[in-house]
Amino acid sequence: MRSISKTILKKPLQHHTGENTKHVTAPGQIFLFGEHAVVYGQPALVVSIGLRTDVKAKRLDTSRFEAVSEGVGKVSGNIKKSPEGWKIADTQGDKEKLKYILKVSENVFKHLDSGSGIKLSISSELPLGAGLGSSSSVTTAVSEAVALTQGEKIEKETIIDLAYQAEKEIQGRASRAGVGVAVHGGFLKIKNDKLETLEDLSNPDIIVGYTGKNAKTCELVEKVKKQKSKSPNIYDPMIRAIGQTTREGIRNLRSNEIEKVGVLMNVNQSLLEGLGVSTSHLNQLIQSSRDAGALGAKITGAGGGGCMISLCRKNAGKIKNAIDRENGIPIRTEISGGGLKIDSE
Ligand code: MEV
Repeated sequence: MRSISKTILKKPLQHHTGENTKHVTAPGQIFLFGEHAVVYGQPALVVSIGLRTDVKAKRLDTSRFEAVSEGVGKVSGNIKKSPEGWKIADTQGDKEKLKYILKVSENVFKHLDSGSGIKLSISSELPLGAGLGSSSSVTTAVSEAVALTQGEKIEKETIIDLAYQAEKEIQGRASRAGVGVAVHGGFLKIKNDKLETLEDLSNPDIIVGYTGKNAKTCELVEKVKKQKSKSPNIYDPMIRAIGQTTREGIRNLRSNEIEKVGVLMNVNQSLLEGLGVSTSHLNQLIQSSRDAGALGAKITGAGGGGCMISLCRKNAGKIKNAIDRENGIPIRTEISGGGLKIDSE
């Protein structure tokens, strides 16, 4: 089997944290059910996975801001209070690539009305922009780490708000699902921006298949919106049916009826294909996983590229090989309960 690219599955740096250093990690996530329909008020089920982003933050004695994101780039600037509030000014380096880190750090300085110098080192096991929640895990972990270096512990709900605002300012739109699951961990039902953690669901085995191609969530959301406004009689019932797969998926995960969960994932996928967000490569990875014995398989996230997930039982190896044969990148990870974690202070 082809080896998985190092940039995709690298282990986070092992940080040696000192007194002034805070170490925070946050998980990535997958949509088990309900992406796209959640934009129209239907429920979605999101869950955290074992792949995490790792942030080390060190307080500096100056007003300097420095951030290094392993394999991505670095940026520096000066933290200043202006008439509009706290800002990271005079920025130099990979501003565009590290825009989530800059924006959420500024949001934390504004929220706390304080801005001491800081050096951030970030590494992630998550492929960037692949629909596995890399931006949500980085914005939440950076938000917590920056606050801790300023001597503050912020409430979980405030971390969610600060990270959500940063994603919204950058992307134009965002949902609280990604940042909510990065903070709380475990299964999260989201409906109309209301988050509900679900504790009594069984943890099925999954395999992620990455197409190696990234797509823009906002463009896919826009595509569905246009189609829906042109032909509401066709698309509205499809959106409602996706919501129904989420509700029944939750019920079957609760009663541990995994085969039924797989069937519902397949139904959800057919509806997503109907919405036009799947691609021929995603369809190949999904079909080959099913042929190799997956109980169900579907896109996770916005589609247009990114990743798919397969629900498996004993046949993980076969499914991984099938994804690999279709030029996908199999990523073995698990559904994992851990949310935002402060590893050491
Ligand atoms: C993208 O990860 C999921 C979508 O439902 C968009 C959203 O919920 O913001 C497509």
